[in-house]
Amino acid sequence: MSTYTPTDPRKVTTLRLAEMKAKGEKIAMLTAYDFTMARLVDEAGMDVILVGDSAANVMAGYSTTLPITLDRMIYHAECVVRGVKRALVVCDLPFGTYKGDPMMALQSGIRVLKESGAEAVKIEGGREIADTVARLVAADIPVMGHLGLTPQSINAFGNYNVRARGEAEAARLIEDAKALEAAGCFALVLEKIPADLAAKVSAALSIPTIGIGAGPDCDGQVLVVQDMLGMNQGFSPKFLRRYADLASVIDGALGSYISDVKSQAFPTREEAY
Ligand code: KIV
Repeated sequence: MSTYTPTDPRKVTTLRLAEMKAKGEKIAMLTAYDFTMARLVDEAGMDVILVGDSAANVMAGYSTTLPITLDRMIYHAECVVRGVKRALVVCDLPFGTYKGDPMMALQSGIRVLKESGAEAVKIEGGREIADTVARLVAADIPVMGHLGLTPQSINAFGNYNVRARGEAEAARLIEDAKALEAAGCFALVLEKIPADLAAKVSAALSIPTIGIGAGPDCDGQVLVVQDMLGMNQGFSPKFLRRYADLASVIDGALGSYISDVKSQAFPTREEAY
């Protein structure tokens, strides 16, 4: 049983997120990639579930998000959708499926909504994808933007450091955020940028900002579920708060099971037919 009860038990929509920003009610977003976890996350009262292309890292073991395909994202998203009743489900369009060609983006977005049942897509980039955002929105595909440390740009950036520390890059990011809002994004992820800049962007926009490593003044927060549950011990950035140590819990349980099987303590006659 979750320790949290949503103030509004109804299905979360993009409209509801706009209302939450207007009322100053913070938005809780978390990733999920499969049915079992999505059901737990939804039942806990999460507002938004992101089927992130971080699935490439935490589900498939790749070192970047680039290899994951649209087919695999759709597979993860449809598994998540089957476990969700209340949260808004947003699915990342993966690398190579939307940038540079609004019509390709449209085909990708249509596939995600039609084949998975997700309710919105997320895409990375600034003013250069404004026409793509507008094309998707015109086809009734809600779009969440993503600025700052956009992991699909790792080969262009060269590292996963904090972005927009300098004045020029910060000013550019604010303009990009405004361009995404004008193009029709319903929300915007801000990843690994200075907290002061995230606060400025959040104040300048009427759509909600969702931060990850972007400080407390965003309109919501997002984390990767395996990271915040402590299942991914090798990843410890400053912004990550671990709410559990599931790696130890799982290790303890697995050790007990192995010992019980070896010592023939499991199964007992009572656990047999
Ligand atoms: O793919 C992902 O999990 C993300 C979040 C970290 C925002 O894009």
